[in-house]
Order: sequence, then C-alpha cells, then structure tokens
Amino acid sequence: MCLIPVHNNMNLAIIGTGYVGLTTGTCFAEVGHNVVCVDNNQAKVEALREGRVPIYEPDLEEMILSNVSAGRLSFTTELAKAVKTCDIIFIAVPTPPHEDGSVDLSYIESVSHEIADVITPEMGYRVIVDKSTVPVSTGSKVYQVIARYAKGNVDVDVVSNPEFLREGSAVSDLMNPDRVVIGADSQRAMDLMKRVYQPFNAPIVEVDLHSAELIKHAANSFLALKISYINAVSAVCEKAGADVELVAQGIGMDKRISRHFLNAGLGYGGSCFPKDVKGFINVADQLGAPMTILKEVENINEQQLERFLKRLRKKLWVLRKKRIAVWGLAFKQNTDDVRESVAIKLIKRLCDEGACVTAYDPKAAQTGAAALAGYDVTIADDMYECTRDAEILIVATEWKQFAMANLVKVREMMRLPIIFDGRNLLHGENALHAGFEYHSIGRKTLRPQ
Ligand code: UDX
Ligand code: UDX
Repeated sequence: MCLIPVHNNMNLAIIGTGYVGLTTGTCFAEVGHNVVCVDNNQAKVEALREGRVPIYEPDLEEMILSNVSAGRLSFTTELAKAVKTCDIIFIAVPTPPHEDGSVDLSYIESVSHEIADVITPEMGYRVIVDKSTVPVSTGSKVYQVIARYAKGNVDVDVVSNPEFLREGSAVSDLMNPDRVVIGADSQRAMDLMKRVYQPFNAPIVEVDLHSAELIKHAANSFLALKISYINAVSAVCEKAGADVELVAQGIGMDKRISRHFLNAGLGYGGSCFPKDVKGFINVADQLGAPMTILKEVENINEQQLERFLKRLRKKLWVLRKKRIAVWGLAFKQNTDDVRESVAIKLIKRLCDEGACVTAYDPKAAQTGAAALAGYDVTIADDMYECTRDAEILIVATEWKQFAMANLVKVREMMRLPIIFDGRNLLHGENALHAGFEYHSIGRKTLRPQ
C-alpha cells in the first residue's frame, strides 16, 4: 500500500455504524480525516465510546482505538451536530429486502429527512453520499427529500460512492481498493470526494450518479453469478466424475475469467449478495429490462444446499437422531456475521429433520446462537469437542483453522469416519489418511481402501 499523506484533512460524518459504516469511518480517520460516526443505537455508541467494538473484523479494533486516541474518530447519536460540523455526510444505514425482493429504503428516507430537518442555507455547501447499496435513482430521491423538507434554499449535492468491502477483509479492502467509484452530477461534489480519497492512491472511476448506483448492483450480481456458475459446473463434475477445483484452476488462469470467486461450495450468503441479487432483479423488472439470468443465479444457489442435503440423506439414510457436527456458523470466514448464512440455513434444515446438531465457530458462537434461537442446537466452544461422538462432520464455513485441523484427533473423537466438506476446504488426501470417507463439492468421494 502506498498512502499519500493527507494535505487537506476533512470533516466527515458517517451515519450508520455497522459493518460498513464503522470500518469505512475508521479507515477515513486512519488516513488523517476527522470522522464522526453516528448511530441511532445508543447502546452501540456507548460501547464504542468505552472502546468495546460490537463486531469482529480483523485489524479493526486496534485501528479504532488508535484513531480515537489520536482524536480523529468519535461516536455519537446526535445526527444534527454531525451534519452541522461536517463537509461530507455519508449514509451507511441498512437497505434490507422486502418480501417481494424490492429494497426497503425506509432507513435511507428517514435519515434524509433527519438531514433535511437540520440543514440550513447558512451552513454552506454539503455533500450527502450514499454508501449503502441502493437501487438506481435512489440518489435523486434523497436529493428531493432534502430539497423539499429543508428550511430554505440549501446548497446540497447527492453523490453515490458504493462500498466494495468484503467482511473478513474489510480493512484491507478499504485501505487498498481496486478502484473507488464516485457518481456525481456536479463537478464541485466530485472534486470534494476526490479529496477524501486522495490519500488512498487508488484509481478513481468518475461517473454520473445513476451509473455509480448501477455499478454496485451489477458488480455484486456478477460476483454472485460467478459463484453460481461454478456451483452449477460442480453438479456436472459430480455426475461426470471430474474435479471442479481443477476446472476452476484451468478456466481461472484465463485472465478474462480469473480464478477469484470460482470456489464451489454450499452457495453464497451474507448481508449483500442475496439481497443485492434480489434488489437488482426487482429494479430491472420495474424498469422493464428484466435480468432473467439472475433468477437462475438464485435458483442455483438454493439448489446447491438441496443437493448437499440429498447427498447427506443418501449417506445417512434418515437424519433423525443422527449426531451431526457442523464446523462454521458465520456466512464466511473471518467474521462473526451470520446474516443469510448458509451454515445457519443448513443447521435449521438438519434440526427440522430431527438430527442432533453440535456446531462450532471461532467467532460467530454468540451471533450464531441468537440466529438459531428456538432450535435445539448445542454450540461447542472447541472445534474438536464439537465432533465428539458425531456420525458425520460437515464443514460449512471456510475458516482457515478448519483447514489446519488435526484430522487424526478428529477421527478419534467421532463415532463414524465421515466428512462432508461443503466448502472444499480440507485436504482430501489428509482426510483419507486419517481414516475418513471424504465427500466434497464437485469432486470424487475419497474412500479408504
Ligand atoms: C448496510 C446496508 O445494509 C448495506 O446495504 C450497505 O451496502 C451498507 O450499509 P451494514 O453496515 O452491514 O450494511 O449494516 P448494519 O451492520 O446493520 O449497520 C447499520 C447501522 O445503521 C446499525 O448500527 C444501525 O443501528 C444504524 N442505523 C440504522 C442508524 O443509525 N439509523 C437508522 O435509521 C437505521
Ligand atoms: C460482498 C462483495 O464481495 C463486496 O465487494 C461487497 O461490496 C459486499 O458483498 P461479502 O458478502 O462481505 O462481500 O463477502 P464475500 O467474500 O463476497 O462472500 C460472499 C459469500 O459468497 C460468502 O457466503 C462466501 O462463502 C461465498 N463465496 C465467495 C463462495 O461461495 N465462493 C467464492 O468463490 C467466493
């Protein structure tokens, strides 16, 4: 990383201090800006003020603490004060899906309203930035709300600056972005935004507001499409006796395709891909330009879990009363986030069929237990203990420490030597040498002689 020292540090407000807002605000402070993070959750703000970080994200806690001590980062519930003192106000509040797949923009609307209530012509120019993932043309609606409800003729521009951070590597993604997308319809707003990002020394894609909004939906949907594509190929590999990892390697070395996001598994989860694919389908339908390809992306993603369950049933016959150990609760490695986690969906399905499930996750034990409330699942606090007397071990999340596990020790703990690796994470030959029958995704099953 090559950071350029910030010459004109700016006063920035981030509204919504979740996975996106908190990491973004902290990284802005790290490069020298003065940042105030606003959240309407009093308990969260108090915790942060006391140095307690409510989420797990690698390197984030140390970065928060050092920037708070340096006086560049603070936390508040007072949106009004932040709007009054900051040049640029980023909105990073949730945009969850409605039942029909359309995006719930009520948090964005209410924050826009709150900004309109405090902003005045005397305050001077303000840039309002949409960081949350929103359907195309939301920025124009944010502008309308502010122009309509503000007292007087306020000087405001609305900009779209989508985030591309992956949970679990959010700090490094933010500090070393592949690109920064800025969508603005005014040069004044564009110039100010470029000053914000100048220290990151990253390529800046300067586009209009609507194109920036579309870039985010199109990027996440394309990544989800890549995952579903390789998952569909994995089903063919299973039938044909081929190896999906080798196929991914072979096609991924073509730079036009690239190996990234071609890991076959149980399917994608998390707070972004499922909702963004749905959101893009919905907005494209509304515009009369349906993205039917994305309906198939969703369909393949759902089928991947169904196929896995079918293979489990084929192996264990009935799942009722079977002791099943599950490694992983988080939707991916290096996070405590279980939103739309396939591991959680899988465990619920196993419980519904009467299996006795014990699960382990290095960071998502608490969030996972909350997501599984009402289900009779034991959460183990050790990954080996989780496998005691199990008839099958399922790997549901791609944590590195599962890949490094001592499988001989695991074999000694378990009742039957069967592994179903839903993330193609373990070394199959090691599992075989430890005495396991090893099932994975899109590859031949390995069985001891
Ligand atoms: C959110 C959006 O869901 C996503 O679409 C977008 O791309 C980035 O922002 P995330 O940061 O993961 O993602 O959400 P979450 O961790 O739920 O945090 C949102 C925060 O906003 C919470 O702390 C919540 O208390 C706060 N909030 C919500 C407000 O401060 N005001 C509101 O009106 C609503
Ligand atoms: C995603 C995008 O990558 C990021 O740019 C965006 O702005 C927010 O959404 P995130 O959801 O945090 O990030 O994690 P990501 O690493 O993209 O993984 C999403 C899901 O896809 C996880 O469930 C993961 O297990 C799965 N995945 C990812 C695969 O199944 N195969 C892959 O090859 C990659």
